[in-house]
Amino acid sequence: MFVDDLLRNKRILITGGGTGLGKSMAHHFMELGAEVLICGRRADVLEETAKELAEATGGSIGWRPLDIRDADAVEETVDSFWQEAPIDVLVNNAAGNFLARTEDLSPRAVDAVVNIVLHGSAYMTLACGKRWIETKHKGTVLSLVTTYAWTGSAFVVPSAMAKAGVLAMTRSLAVEWGPKGVRLNAIAPGPFPTQGAWERLVPNEDLAKLWETRNPLGRTGDHRELTNLAAYLVSDEAGYINGDVITIDGGEWLAGAGQFNFANQLSDEDWEKISPKKGK
Ligand code: HXC
Repeated sequence: MFVDDLLRNKRILITGGGTGLGKSMAHHFMELGAEVLICGRRADVLEETAKELAEATGGSIGWRPLDIRDADAVEETVDSFWQEAPIDVLVNNAAGNFLARTEDLSPRAVDAVVNIVLHGSAYMTLACGKRWIETKHKGTVLSLVTTYAWTGSAFVVPSAMAKAGVLAMTRSLAVEWGPKGVRLNAIAPGPFPTQGAWERLVPNEDLAKLWETRNPLGRTGDHRELTNLAAYLVSDEAGYINGDVITIDGGEWLAGAGQFNFANQLSDEDWEKISPKKGK
Protein backbone atom coordinates (compact mmCIF):
# COMPACT_ATOMS: atom_id res chain seq x y z
CA MET A 1 0.00 0.00 0.00
CA PHE A 2 2.98 2.33 0.37
CA VAL A 3 5.95 3.40 -1.72
CA ASP A 4 8.84 1.09 -0.78
CA ASP A 5 10.90 3.77 0.90
CA LEU A 6 8.14 5.47 2.92
CA LEU A 7 10.25 5.25 6.09
CA ARG A 8 13.72 5.72 4.58
CA ASN A 9 15.98 7.79 6.88
CA LYS A 10 13.74 7.08 9.89
CA ARG A 11 15.31 5.59 13.00
CA ILE A 12 12.48 4.00 14.93
CA LEU A 13 12.67 2.70 18.50
CA ILE A 14 9.99 0.16 19.45
CA THR A 15 9.53 -0.94 23.06
CA GLY A 16 8.55 -4.58 23.37
CA GLY A 17 9.76 -5.00 19.80
CA GLY A 18 10.89 -8.61 20.22
CA THR A 19 7.44 -10.19 20.11
CA GLY A 20 3.80 -9.70 19.13
CA LEU A 21 2.60 -6.48 17.55
CA GLY A 22 5.95 -4.79 18.27
CA LYS A 23 7.76 -7.39 16.19
CA SER A 24 5.19 -7.07 13.37
CA MET A 25 5.67 -3.30 13.31
CA ALA A 26 9.46 -3.70 13.34
CA HIS A 27 9.23 -6.07 10.36
CA HIS A 28 7.00 -3.79 8.29
CA PHE A 29 8.95 -0.62 9.14
CA MET A 30 12.14 -2.34 7.98
CA GLU A 31 10.45 -3.37 4.72
CA LEU A 32 9.65 0.31 4.23
CA GLY A 33 13.29 1.31 4.65
CA ALA A 34 13.46 2.31 8.32
CA GLU A 35 16.33 1.51 10.64
CA VAL A 36 14.66 -0.17 13.61
CA LEU A 37 15.77 -0.39 17.24
CA ILE A 38 14.00 -2.82 19.54
CA CYS A 39 14.12 -3.19 23.29
CA GLY A 40 12.50 -5.54 25.76
CA ARG A 41 13.30 -7.49 28.91
CA ARG A 42 14.72 -10.67 27.36
CA ALA A 43 18.02 -10.41 25.46
CA ASP A 44 17.65 -13.85 23.86
CA VAL A 45 14.26 -12.95 22.37
CA LEU A 46 15.55 -9.62 21.03
CA GLU A 47 18.62 -11.22 19.50
CA GLU A 48 16.54 -13.90 17.80
CA THR A 49 14.01 -11.37 16.44
CA ALA A 50 16.75 -9.03 15.23
CA LYS A 51 18.44 -11.88 13.35
CA GLU A 52 15.16 -13.08 11.83
CA LEU A 53 14.03 -9.62 10.68
CA ALA A 54 17.45 -8.66 9.29
CA GLU A 55 17.46 -11.87 7.22
CA ALA A 56 13.83 -11.45 6.11
CA THR A 57 14.12 -7.79 5.05
CA GLY A 58 17.82 -7.14 4.46
CA GLY A 59 17.27 -4.06 6.63
CA SER A 60 19.04 -2.64 9.63
CA ILE A 61 18.04 -3.43 13.23
CA GLY A 62 19.66 -2.85 16.63
CA TRP A 63 18.59 -4.08 20.05
CA ARG A 64 19.23 -3.53 23.75
CA PRO A 65 17.67 -5.33 26.72
CA LEU A 66 15.61 -2.89 28.77
CA ASP A 67 12.94 -3.01 31.46
CA ILE A 68 11.07 0.26 30.87
CA ARG A 69 9.89 0.30 34.51
CA ASP A 70 13.44 1.33 35.45
CA ALA A 71 13.79 5.08 34.73
CA ASP A 72 17.60 5.05 35.01
CA ALA A 73 17.87 2.14 32.60
CA VAL A 74 15.55 3.93 30.15
CA GLU A 75 17.79 7.00 30.27
CA GLU A 76 20.96 4.91 29.71
CA THR A 77 19.47 2.92 26.85
CA VAL A 78 18.02 5.90 25.00
CA ASP A 79 21.34 7.70 25.52
CA SER A 80 23.36 4.85 24.07
CA PHE A 81 21.07 4.57 21.01
CA TRP A 82 21.20 8.36 20.62
CA GLN A 83 25.00 8.45 20.68
CA GLU A 84 25.02 6.29 17.54
CA ALA A 85 22.53 8.60 15.80
CA PRO A 86 19.36 10.52 16.69
CA ILE A 87 16.12 8.59 17.01
CA ASP A 88 13.23 9.92 14.87
CA VAL A 89 10.28 7.88 16.14
CA LEU A 90 9.36 6.23 19.43
CA VAL A 91 6.70 3.52 19.48
CA ASN A 92 5.36 2.89 22.99
CA ASN A 93 4.27 -0.69 22.41
CA ALA A 94 5.45 -2.62 25.49
CA ALA A 95 2.56 -3.52 27.80
CA GLY A 96 1.65 -5.74 30.71
CA ASN A 97 -1.82 -7.02 31.43
CA PHE A 98 -3.76 -9.94 32.85
CA LEU A 99 -7.38 -10.77 33.52
CA ALA A 100 -8.24 -10.67 37.22
CA ARG A 101 -11.04 -9.84 39.62
CA THR A 102 -9.96 -6.44 40.88
CA GLU A 103 -10.61 -7.28 44.53
CA ASP A 104 -8.00 -10.06 44.19
CA LEU A 105 -5.20 -7.70 43.11
CA SER A 106 -2.28 -7.03 45.45
CA PRO A 107 -0.55 -3.62 45.36
CA ARG A 108 2.34 -5.31 43.55
CA ALA A 109 -0.05 -6.63 40.90
CA VAL A 110 -1.36 -3.10 40.28
CA ASP A 111 2.21 -1.80 40.11
CA ALA A 112 3.34 -4.54 37.73
CA VAL A 113 0.88 -3.33 35.07
CA VAL A 114 0.83 0.42 35.77
CA ASN A 115 4.62 0.63 35.99
CA ILE A 116 5.05 -0.93 32.57
CA VAL A 117 2.22 0.77 30.70
CA LEU A 118 1.99 4.22 32.28
CA HIS A 119 5.35 4.89 33.91
CA GLY A 120 7.36 3.05 31.27
CA SER A 121 5.68 4.91 28.41
CA ALA A 122 6.18 8.22 30.23
CA TYR A 123 9.90 7.52 30.91
CA MET A 124 10.48 6.58 27.26
CA THR A 125 8.56 9.60 25.95
CA LEU A 126 10.46 11.96 28.25
CA ALA A 127 13.85 10.48 27.38
CA CYS A 128 13.20 10.94 23.66
CA GLY A 129 11.22 14.18 23.92
CA LYS A 130 13.81 16.11 25.87
CA ARG A 131 16.51 15.12 23.37
CA TRP A 132 14.33 16.14 20.43
CA ILE A 133 13.62 19.51 22.04
CA GLU A 134 17.24 20.15 23.13
CA THR A 135 18.60 19.35 19.66
CA LYS A 136 15.66 20.84 17.71
CA HIS A 137 15.22 17.45 16.03
CA LYS A 138 11.72 16.63 14.78
CA GLY A 139 10.24 13.61 16.54
CA THR A 140 7.13 11.45 16.60
CA VAL A 141 5.64 9.25 19.30
CA LEU A 142 3.10 6.54 18.58
CA SER A 143 1.56 4.82 21.59
CA LEU A 144 -0.51 1.66 21.50
CA VAL A 145 -3.51 2.08 23.77
CA THR A 146 -6.89 0.29 23.78
CA THR A 147 -10.51 1.32 23.31
CA TYR A 148 -11.06 0.79 27.02
CA ALA A 149 -8.73 3.74 27.60
CA TRP A 150 -11.95 5.77 27.26
CA THR A 151 -14.69 3.24 28.04
CA GLY A 152 -12.90 1.59 30.97
CA SER A 153 -13.16 -2.19 31.30
CA ALA A 154 -13.97 -4.60 34.08
CA PHE A 155 -11.34 -7.21 35.01
CA VAL A 156 -8.36 -5.34 33.49
CA VAL A 157 -8.58 -2.27 35.73
CA PRO A 158 -4.85 -1.45 36.16
CA SER A 159 -4.44 -1.69 32.38
CA ALA A 160 -7.50 0.52 31.79
CA MET A 161 -6.19 3.13 34.25
CA ALA A 162 -2.73 3.07 32.70
CA LYS A 163 -3.87 3.18 29.06
CA ALA A 164 -6.17 6.12 29.91
CA GLY A 165 -3.09 7.87 31.29
CA VAL A 166 -1.07 7.18 28.14
CA LEU A 167 -3.88 8.65 26.06
CA ALA A 168 -3.96 11.74 28.31
CA MET A 169 -0.18 12.05 27.91
CA THR A 170 -0.55 11.81 24.11
CA ARG A 171 -3.19 14.54 23.93
CA SER A 172 -1.45 16.81 26.46
CA LEU A 173 2.01 16.64 24.89
CA ALA A 174 0.62 16.99 21.37
CA VAL A 175 -0.29 20.52 22.37
CA GLU A 176 2.75 21.23 24.57
CA TRP A 177 5.36 19.78 22.22
CA GLY A 178 3.68 20.39 18.83
CA PRO A 179 5.25 23.86 18.62
CA LYS A 180 8.63 22.23 19.35
CA GLY A 181 8.37 19.83 16.40
CA VAL A 182 7.14 16.71 18.23
CA ARG A 183 3.96 14.94 17.10
CA LEU A 184 2.21 12.34 19.28
CA ASN A 185 -0.60 9.98 18.33
CA ALA A 186 -2.07 6.69 19.50
CA ILE A 187 -3.63 3.59 18.02
CA ALA A 188 -6.41 1.69 19.81
CA PRO A 189 -6.43 -1.86 18.44
CA GLY A 190 -9.22 -4.40 18.86
CA PRO A 191 -8.45 -8.13 18.85
CA PHE A 192 -5.17 -8.70 17.00
CA PRO A 193 -4.05 -12.17 18.14
CA THR A 194 -0.66 -12.35 19.85
CA GLN A 195 0.67 -15.09 22.08
CA GLY A 196 1.40 -12.69 24.98
CA ALA A 197 -2.07 -11.15 25.16
CA TRP A 198 -4.03 -14.33 24.47
CA GLU A 199 -2.16 -16.35 27.11
CA ARG A 200 -2.90 -13.75 29.76
CA LEU A 201 -6.34 -12.55 28.78
CA VAL A 202 -8.31 -15.47 27.39
CA PRO A 203 -8.59 -18.46 29.70
CA ASN A 204 -10.36 -20.87 27.29
CA GLU A 205 -10.99 -21.45 23.58
CA ASP A 206 -14.72 -20.66 23.66
CA LEU A 207 -14.03 -17.27 25.19
CA ALA A 208 -11.26 -16.69 22.67
CA LYS A 209 -13.71 -17.39 19.83
CA LEU A 210 -16.29 -15.06 21.39
CA TRP A 211 -13.74 -12.29 21.84
CA GLU A 212 -12.38 -12.70 18.33
CA THR A 213 -15.73 -12.65 16.54
CA ARG A 214 -18.09 -10.42 18.54
CA ASN A 215 -17.17 -7.34 16.52
CA PRO A 216 -19.34 -6.26 13.55
CA LEU A 217 -16.83 -7.66 11.05
CA GLY A 218 -16.84 -11.03 12.82
CA ARG A 219 -13.09 -11.56 12.69
CA THR A 220 -9.79 -10.65 14.30
CA GLY A 221 -7.50 -8.02 12.87
CA ASP A 222 -4.62 -8.94 10.60
CA HIS A 223 -1.28 -7.64 11.90
CA ARG A 224 -0.66 -6.10 8.48
CA GLU A 225 -3.76 -3.94 8.90
CA LEU A 226 -2.32 -2.52 12.10
CA THR A 227 1.23 -2.14 10.82
CA ASN A 228 -0.04 -0.24 7.76
CA LEU A 229 -1.79 2.24 10.05
CA ALA A 230 1.28 2.53 12.29
CA ALA A 231 3.60 3.07 9.30
CA TYR A 232 1.37 5.84 8.00
CA LEU A 233 1.10 7.58 11.38
CA VAL A 234 4.85 7.63 12.01
CA SER A 235 5.65 8.73 8.45
CA ASP A 236 5.94 12.33 7.30
CA GLU A 237 2.81 11.76 5.19
CA ALA A 238 0.82 11.99 8.45
CA GLY A 239 2.59 15.22 9.41
CA TYR A 240 -0.63 17.09 10.22
CA ILE A 241 -2.12 14.39 12.49
CA ASN A 242 -1.28 15.29 16.07
CA GLY A 243 -2.88 14.36 19.39
CA ASP A 244 -5.32 11.85 18.00
CA VAL A 245 -6.15 8.22 18.65
CA ILE A 246 -7.15 6.03 15.72
CA THR A 247 -9.31 3.02 16.51
CA ILE A 248 -8.72 -0.15 14.50
CA ASP A 249 -11.11 -2.71 15.95
CA GLY A 250 -13.64 -3.66 13.27
CA GLY A 251 -16.23 -1.57 15.13
CA GLU A 252 -15.91 -3.65 18.32
CA TRP A 253 -16.25 -0.92 20.92
CA LEU A 254 -19.10 0.86 19.22
CA ALA A 255 -20.96 -2.44 18.97
CA GLY A 256 -20.76 -2.67 22.76
CA ALA A 257 -21.96 0.90 23.22
CA GLY A 258 -25.04 1.65 21.08
CA GLN A 259 -28.25 1.14 23.10
CA PHE A 260 -30.13 -0.64 20.31
CA ASN A 261 -27.23 -2.65 18.93
CA PHE A 262 -28.89 -5.72 20.43
CA ALA A 263 -31.33 -5.52 17.52
CA ASN A 264 -28.69 -7.38 15.48
CA GLN A 265 -30.17 -10.44 17.18
CA LEU A 266 -33.72 -9.86 15.90
CA SER A 267 -35.16 -12.34 13.42
CA ASP A 268 -37.06 -11.39 10.26
CA GLU A 269 -40.20 -12.33 12.19
CA ASP A 270 -39.36 -9.87 14.97
CA TRP A 271 -38.82 -7.13 12.40
CA GLU A 272 -42.19 -7.98 10.80
CA LYS A 273 -43.88 -7.64 14.19
CA ILE A 274 -42.68 -4.09 14.77
CA SER A 275 -42.99 -2.97 11.17
CA PRO A 276 -45.61 -0.25 10.46
CA LYS A 277 -46.56 -2.32 7.40
CA LYS A 278 -47.78 -5.06 9.76
CA GLY A 279 -51.21 -6.41 8.77
CA LYS A 280 -51.31 -4.46 5.46
C1 HXC B 1 -3.57 -11.61 39.86
C2 HXC B 1 -1.32 -11.40 39.29
C3 HXC B 1 -1.55 -12.09 38.06
C4 HXC B 1 -2.88 -12.53 37.78
C5 HXC B 1 0.56 -11.55 38.19
N1 HXC B 1 -0.01 -11.10 39.30
N2 HXC B 1 -0.36 -12.15 37.39
N3 HXC B 1 -2.32 -11.17 40.18
N4 HXC B 1 -3.85 -12.28 38.70
N5 HXC B 1 -3.17 -13.17 36.65
C6 HXC B 1 0.65 -10.42 40.43
C7 HXC B 1 1.67 -11.32 41.09
O1 HXC B 1 1.04 -12.19 42.00
C8 HXC B 1 2.57 -10.29 41.79
O2 HXC B 1 1.98 -9.79 42.95
C9 HXC B 1 2.56 -9.12 40.80
O3 HXC B 1 1.41 -9.30 39.95
C10 HXC B 1 3.79 -9.11 39.94
O4 HXC B 1 3.88 -10.35 39.28
P1 HXC B 1 5.22 -10.86 38.61
O5 HXC B 1 4.95 -12.05 37.81
O6 HXC B 1 6.30 -10.93 39.66
O7 HXC B 1 5.59 -9.60 37.69
P2 HXC B 1 6.42 -9.51 36.40
O8 HXC B 1 7.31 -10.71 36.20
O9 HXC B 1 7.03 -8.19 36.38
O10 HXC B 1 5.31 -9.60 35.23
C11 HXC B 1 4.56 -8.52 34.85
C12 HXC B 1 3.20 -8.98 34.33
C13 HXC B 1 3.34 -10.06 33.26
C14 HXC B 1 2.42 -7.78 33.83
C15 HXC B 1 2.48 -9.58 35.54
O11 HXC B 1 2.07 -10.53 32.85
C16 HXC B 1 4.09 -9.57 32.07
O12 HXC B 1 5.31 -9.48 32.09
N6 HXC B 1 3.41 -9.22 30.94
C17 HXC B 1 4.06 -8.68 29.75
C18 HXC B 1 3.39 -9.07 28.50
C19 HXC B 1 1.90 -8.84 28.46
O13 HXC B 1 1.24 -8.70 29.49
N7 HXC B 1 1.32 -8.80 27.27
C20 HXC B 1 -0.10 -8.60 27.12
C21 HXC B 1 -0.35 -7.17 26.87
S1 HXC B 1 -1.94 -6.99 26.16
P3 HXC B 1 2.37 -10.38 44.45
O14 HXC B 1 1.68 -9.44 45.38
O15 HXC B 1 1.84 -11.77 44.48
O16 HXC B 1 3.86 -10.32 44.53
C22 HXC B 1 -2.46 -5.42 26.46
C23 HXC B 1 -3.56 -4.88 25.62
C24 HXC B 1 -4.86 -5.42 25.95
O17 HXC B 1 -1.95 -4.74 27.27
C25 HXC B 1 -5.89 -5.23 24.87
C26 HXC B 1 -6.13 -6.50 24.13
C27 HXC B 1 -6.97 -6.31 22.93
